[in-house]
Amino acid sequence: MIKQESIDRLLEVTDIVDVVSQYVNLKRSGRNFVGLCPFHDDRNPSMSVSQDMGIYHCFSCKAGGNAINFIKEYEHLSYPEAIEKLANMQGFTLEYTKDNINKKHLDIKILDVVNGYYKFCLYQNHKALDYLYKRGFDDALIDKFELGYAPASHYTTNLLENEGIDKKDALEVGIIKQNENGVYASFIERITFPIKNHTGKLVGFGGRTITNHPAKYVNSPESVVFDKSRIFYAYDKAKDEIHKKGEILITEGYMDTIMLHKAKFSNAVAVLGTALTQKHLPLIRRSGAKVVLMFDGDGAGKSAAYKSSVLLMKNKIDASVVIIPDGADPADLVQAGEVLKLDKILNTKIEAGEFVIKNIANNFELARPLQKQKALEEIQKFTKELPMIVANSYQNLVANLLGVDIGSFSLTQGKFTPNAKQDKRANLTPKKDYLELQILKTLAVDKEIFNSVKNSIRKDYFITHYDIWEAIFENSPDGEILVRELEIDDSVDEFKEVQEFFKALKLLIIANYKKRLNLLKISSDPDKFAKMNAIQNSIRKLEKDKI
Ligand code: CTP
Ligand code: MN
Repeated sequence: MIKQESIDRLLEVTDIVDVVSQYVNLKRSGRNFVGLCPFHDDRNPSMSVSQDMGIYHCFSCKAGGNAINFIKEYEHLSYPEAIEKLANMQGFTLEYTKDNINKKHLDIKILDVVNGYYKFCLYQNHKALDYLYKRGFDDALIDKFELGYAPASHYTTNLLENEGIDKKDALEVGIIKQNENGVYASFIERITFPIKNHTGKLVGFGGRTITNHPAKYVNSPESVVFDKSRIFYAYDKAKDEIHKKGEILITEGYMDTIMLHKAKFSNAVAVLGTALTQKHLPLIRRSGAKVVLMFDGDGAGKSAAYKSSVLLMKNKIDASVVIIPDGADPADLVQAGEVLKLDKILNTKIEAGEFVIKNIANNFELARPLQKQKALEEIQKFTKELPMIVANSYQNLVANLLGVDIGSFSLTQGKFTPNAKQDKRANLTPKKDYLELQILKTLAVDKEIFNSVKNSIRKDYFITHYDIWEAIFENSPDGEILVRELEIDDSVDEFKEVQEFFKALKLLIIANYKKRLNLLKISSDPDKFAKMNAIQNSIRKLEKDKI
C-alpha cells in the first residue's frame, strides 16, 4: 500500500496545470486555467483548473478532482495505478507501508548523522574555521546556524560505511554521487550550511568552497525530502520574528541571511540559488507577512528582484524591494559594521509594483514619443494582470514617468470593470453573495478553522448559499461538486486569518438578521413584532461584542 502521507506530499509537489496540460490545451483565465473538457463532448472550454487549489472542475459535466483523479479518469487506471503514474511523471519516490516503513525518517536520519559529522569537522580544520572568523562569524553564530565543514571525499564515504548507512539511501538524499569510477561525496572541502524546511527538519545542505573551486556554492540535489523551489533557507529560525514584524526579508544568499540575523534582522531568509517561484508562495501566504526583497545591486540581483516583484504582485502579495547599492550585498554591509547604513537602505524600500513600472520605463528613451507609447504598452501588460484598484493606483506614477496627461491612458485596458463583470454574471447565473461564499470557502479549505468552529456555524446564517452549507456540514448528495465549484471560483478568496474570518462571520450574521428583519416588516406574520424585537436584540448584542 502507498502511504497516505506520501500521496499527500506527491499532491503537494504536483502542479496540476503541468499535469492537465499534458493532455489538454490550457489557457490562463484570471487566476485559473481553462480548456476543453476531455470527459464529455465539449465545444466551449468548460473545464477550469486551479493551480492554487490543485483541482480541476468541468462546469458542464461536473467531472473534477485532483491531479490523481484526472489521470485515473483520463487513462482509465485504478486509483493506485494513477498515483504511480503521477509519481513517475514527477520523478517522485513513493513510500509504501510494508516494505519501506519509515523511509522518509531514514532519509532524514542519514542527513542528521552527516550534519553532526560535518559540524565536528569544522573545529578540526583551522583553514575552514579561520575562513568563517574572517567573514565575521563567531562561535555562537556558527552554532546557531550549525555550520560545518565537509573535508575530502573519502572522509564522507568512510563515515557512511562506519555508520552502516546504505549507499543507495545516501545517494537518494544526495550526500554522495556516483560516476564511472564509483561514489564520491557531494560536498568536498566546503563549508556546509544545513538546510531545514519550515518545520525545522533537515532536508539538505548548501556548501561553499574554501579552495576556490569554480562552483562557489553547491546544493543537495532535489530528492524526496528536498525541493529547492519551495524552501526558504532559515525560515525555521526566522518564523517567530516574521510573525512579530509581519514582514519577511528575502535575500539571495546563505551568507546574507546569516549576517542579517547577526545584525538583529532575524526575519531574514534566502532563496536557494533559484528565483522566487510559484511554489514559494504558499509559505509566504501562510505567514501572512508582507515581503521585503533585499537583493544585490548587480544585474542578476536586479533581474531577480524584477521577476520576483511581478510574481508577487500578480499573486496579490504585498511586497517591497530594496536594492543594495555599490556592488555590495547585505553580508558585506554587516561585516563592515554598517548596520546603520543597512537600516537607512531598508527605509528606502520601494513598493513592488512601483519598482516594476519604474524598471520598465527605464528601458525606454522617454524623450521620444514613439518610445513613450511602447513604454506605456509594456507597463499596461503588467498592470492589466493586477486587481483593478491596484492597477489604478499607479495612474499618477505612470503619468509622471512618461510626462503625459493623467487622463490620457488606462492601466486596466481590456479588463472587465467589476460592474460589467457582475452584470454579465447576473444574466447568466443566480446572484452570488460574496461574504457568504468567502466564509464557506474558508470552512471548505481550512481544516483548522473548520474544526475549531464547526459546532457554532448554523445553517440559518446563510440565506443565499445554504446549499453549500449543507454540502460542507451534511455531505449532501452532489455536495462534493458544489464544494469543488466554490474552491475553483477564483473570484472568491478564503480568509487566511482566524480573526478576519470571525469579523466576516459577525458581519454576515448581522447583515442576514437585517435581511430577515426587512422581510418580517412586510410580512403578515401575527407574531412579527415579537420576532422583530428578538432579532433586534440579537443584533444589538452582536454589535456590542468586540472581536
Ligand atoms: N549560488 C549557487 N551556486 C553558485 C553561486 C551562487 O547556488 N555557483 C546561490 C547560493 O545559494 C548563494 C546565492 O546564490 O547563497 C548567492 O550567490 P552569490 O551572491 O554569488 O553569493 P554570496 O551570497 O555573495 O556568497 P559569498 O559572500 O560567500 O561570496
Ligand atoms: Mn552576494
